[in-house]
Amino acid sequence: PQPGPVTAPVMGWNSWNRFGCNIDENLIKATADAMVSTGLKASGYTYVNIDDCWMASTRDGQGRLRPDPVRFPGGIAAIADYVHARGLKLGIYSSAGTATCQGLPASLDHETVDAQTWASWGVDLLKYDNCNNQGRPAAQRYKAMGDALKATGRHIVYSICNWGNDAPWEFAPNVGGSLWRTTGDINDSWGSVTSLLDQQAGLETFARKGYYNDPDMLEVGNGGLTQDENVAHFSLWSLLSSPLLLGNDLRSVSATTLGVLRNADVIAVNQDWGGSQGRRVADNGDTEVWAKPMSDGSVATVLFNRGGSATTVSTSTAALGLGGSSSYTTKNLWTGATATTSGTLSASVPAHGVVMFRVTRAGTLAAPPAAGTLQVSDLP
Ligand code: DGJ
Repeated sequence: PQPGPVTAPVMGWNSWNRFGCNIDENLIKATADAMVSTGLKASGYTYVNIDDCWMASTRDGQGRLRPDPVRFPGGIAAIADYVHARGLKLGIYSSAGTATCQGLPASLDHETVDAQTWASWGVDLLKYDNCNNQGRPAAQRYKAMGDALKATGRHIVYSICNWGNDAPWEFAPNVGGSLWRTTGDINDSWGSVTSLLDQQAGLETFARKGYYNDPDMLEVGNGGLTQDENVAHFSLWSLLSSPLLLGNDLRSVSATTLGVLRNADVIAVNQDWGGSQGRRVADNGDTEVWAKPMSDGSVATVLFNRGGSATTVSTSTAALGLGGSSSYTTKNLWTGATATTSGTLSASVPAHGVVMFRVTRAGTLAAPPAAGTLQVSDLP
């Protein structure tokens, strides 16, 4: 078995985007509490992930990583217990290098002892970064940790963070990785969101059930994006079958932001595996159409407007890969409105925004393929 197979994109929270190194055990515990009290846990967000800066500047006398004594005086095992008691899971961070990106001790050539340490603490996920890697081949460095995680016998999800260098989509699944970063870091700006989105095109075929491209953590609710931009970011990342790792302060999350993050219809698009992650099916300059097949035969669709003013975006059920019916139902996943169409989809889309639909065949279906014919569900 792999170190920790997953059945759908990981959902949870990570400390980095909002807090950087400004973390401590009170923040992590309060975040776990907030995930429960805000309903985010009920929406499917499970992992509470501590990023860089949790470790002390030296290893202990037995060569083990230890938590920073000021930030985490109670230790990581106590946090794992706290998080587990709330039905959540704990993620931790290191680098496949001699030091983390912030210059703290990391795991290159310490894979076995570090994996054993995390397993003994009750850790459920490792994000494994790429700083200070000494120029050694990525596939070797990431395999060493994948093997060490597997040897612990604990189910630890393995998140590979080498920023899309060295084609992680090719080696990650072979070393036990369930998700792999495809790019450098996101920041809290619209330009960053669109730039990362553009870098996903062409990677669709590498994602498969249990193995996901990771276009980086969410910035929804961090203040740099407008509401329409937050909705676009969340819709597109969901359509890409991206991990949904919240990057904002959950202790003070607004009702508006929760309304984005808890949209069950959009989360259902993210968590479903219909044979492909979402992809761009039309590119008309400022406007685009993205589509993801769903396992029930419907198609999730994002009509996307990159431009600075509202405009109409149109597509057709045929362009989405849906055919064989004279009638289709559409559900707008942000307003809940439903409608029927014989094949045309069209909506006014706000500046830097999306309209997201789920489109389902409604009329009489064409005759099913004969027995023995290749089915969509047969595809890898
Ligand atoms: C680089 C990673 O890409 C980020 O997500 C974050 O983990 C930082 N390193 C931490 O130093």
